[in-house]
Parts: sequence; structure tokens; C-alpha cells
Amino acid sequence: MTKPVTTVDLLKMKQEKQPITMLTAYDYSTAVLVDSAGIDLILVGDSLGNVVLGYDTTVPVTMDDILHHVKAVTRGVKRSLVIADMPFMSYHISEEETMRNAARLLQEGGAKAVKIEGGRQVVDKVKKLTEAGIPVMGHLGLTPQSVHQMGGYRVQGKTADAARMLMEDARALQEAGVFALVLECIPAELAKQVTEELKIPTIGIGAGVNCDGQVLVIHDLLGINNQFKPKFVKRYANLHDEIMKALETYRDEVKERKFPSEEHTFSMPDDELKKLY
Ligand code: KIV
Repeated sequence: MTKPVTTVDLLKMKQEKQPITMLTAYDYSTAVLVDSAGIDLILVGDSLGNVVLGYDTTVPVTMDDILHHVKAVTRGVKRSLVIADMPFMSYHISEEETMRNAARLLQEGGAKAVKIEGGRQVVDKVKKLTEAGIPVMGHLGLTPQSVHQMGGYRVQGKTADAARMLMEDARALQEAGVFALVLECIPAELAKQVTEELKIPTIGIGAGVNCDGQVLVIHDLLGINNQFKPKFVKRYANLHDEIMKALETYRDEVKERKFPSEEHTFSMPDDELKKLY
């Protein structure tokens, strides 16, 4: 078996300029596929609220939701480093609650690290978590848990002032001990500057090619949803159409009694059949 990826490996990958791959996964079967494909990091993202649970935002996702999916994912993984998203308000109320929630994701869920959104306002929490031996990934730029405060899903850090603020947040998170930083929907020039200045790796989503790694939501990459496609998403497959074709063919074959055919049917041995009548 290939050696499991650790947070220390990621630092080395940055130093050696080897791009880091990261994808989301929310269930056992997908985790097996992503892990087998040699993806370095698996995020059990709170995007499961959108793509699995059918919510409009990530805000309704709870600790129990994330924990349930983290357990399924870690059962399927041998090599990738599994990171669990801390959901909305699970790291804001108190230090005690933050610690307890993060500990559950590692102890009960089997994750190796947690991810939290925000900059200087979460630095105290990052320090406490890392002091307790819980690796933390940061997340700056478009932070979906603050969608109602941001007034929608928009590219962040587009003005010089906003870019400077983001740079300050990135420095503060590194100082507090995050092992890597997700940069979501920010101009490529700013992501490049952050990546060059920080010692820890940056993982981009809608942040250009100069980050140390890239992350996508697996449903977007596979084209499971054929509706809205943000600019930063590249569909590597069109599973929506493939799945629809399979479902419609199944429907028609059952209606026409073409399925199951003999190939998919069990028979009784003749001598046993004779005894029956
Ligand atoms: O929840 C998620 O999927 C994420 C990624 C987009 C980074 O936070």
C-alpha cells in the first residue's frame, strides 16, 4: 500500500513545487474511487448541503450531518488525507464547543484534520485546535458559510483594499498554525501573491493556476448536475447525461419486459422443478 498522505508531506510538496490534488467526497463508494485515483486530499465539505442534502446554502448543515458523511468516507480511504469541514456555527459559540466538535470529527469520524472558514476572527480557535494536536486547514476569499453577510456568491478580493485584508488574514492564519489554506474565488494575481508569500500550501478553487494545489466539488467535476456551472468549474465527465440514459433505458426495458432477461435470472434444476408439480 502506498504511504498515507500527511500534513508534513504537503509542505514538502509545496517546497518541491509538486501540485497538490484535492476533491470533495461524501460517501464510501466515491471515497474509494477518489482515493484509488491517487488524489492527495479528500474534503468532506459542507458543500454536501448543496449537492447531497438539497439545501440552497451550506448554512443548514449540522455537525451530525458532517459526522455521518465523514464516517462513510474514512471507511473507504487508504492513502488520501481526509479533512472534515466544520459546519456553520460549530466553531463560533465558544472555545469549548469548538474543541469538542473538532475532536468528534477526528475521534468518531476518523478525519485527520478539520477546515474552518474565516481570517483573523478565527485565529484564536486555530491556535487552540493546533495546540491540541488537531491540524487545521484555513479557508479565505468566498466563504460560503457567510453568504448572507456577503450578499451572494461573488468573487472576493477584487479591490486593492480587499486584497490587502485577505493577505493580512492569510498571514494571521499561517502564524496561528494552519497547515494549508483554501483560496476560493479570488483574482489569480492575488492568489499568486498569497502563494508566493506563505510557507504553507494554498489550495485554489476559482483562484487561478498559481496556487500550490487545486480543489473541486466532485459533483461539478463529474458533471452530475447539468444546470448552473460556475466559471471556475471544469467538467471532466458528463455523468448527468450518462445517468439519465441508463435510467430511461432501465425504465423502458422493465415496461417492455425486456429486463430481466435469462442472463439475469435464476432457474430451478429440472428434477427439483418436476417434484414441485
Ligand atoms: O465545502 C466545500 O466543498 C468546500 C470547497 C469548495 C473548498 O469548502
